[in-house]
Amino acid sequence: MKLSFQLNGRSVETECEAQETLAELLRDQLNLTGTKVSCEVQVCGACTVLVDGLPVSSCTLLAYEVRDRDVLTIEGLARPDGTLHPIQQAFIDEFAFQCGFCTPGMILATKALLDENPKPTEDDITHYMDGNICRCTGYVPIIRAIQRAATTMAQEGKK
Ligand code: FES
Ligand code: FES
Repeated sequence: MKLSFQLNGRSVETECEAQETLAELLRDQLNLTGTKVSCEVQVCGACTVLVDGLPVSSCTLLAYEVRDRDVLTIEGLARPDGTLHPIQQAFIDEFAFQCGFCTPGMILATKALLDENPKPTEDDITHYMDGNICRCTGYVPIIRAIQRAATTMAQEGKK
């Protein structure tokens, strides 16, 4: 079926199968492999992308469900000149990843969190991020990165 939607600020027109997931469309058709797939049952958060600004598991969302909606993947987060988004930079500065497999989903979930709540407490962060699993870091550096990103974004007035 035909499908058009906004992807990382650009209009996309493509086709998808009725059973095709958004993750499959992004990775296999559109070559956006920054979106990772692990559990495929909406448990780990590795496949998180934003749809109309809210985090969704692209492993279980059917591709056609994003028709006429706005999708943001990790590839769309950096500035047009290549400058990393403050959340991306904060994850680097706080060494908030090891294998990196959870990182794109973590960063996009963080963006949704900070768009909704620019000054989250540690409890707010822990609660909001509980759908994103990291097998490597023990979460402490991730929480620090989110706090650093919140501070930077507040100082820079950025979204
Ligand atoms: S791969 Fe989608 S939630 Fe785990
Ligand atoms: S950095 Fe390896 S799963 Fe999070």
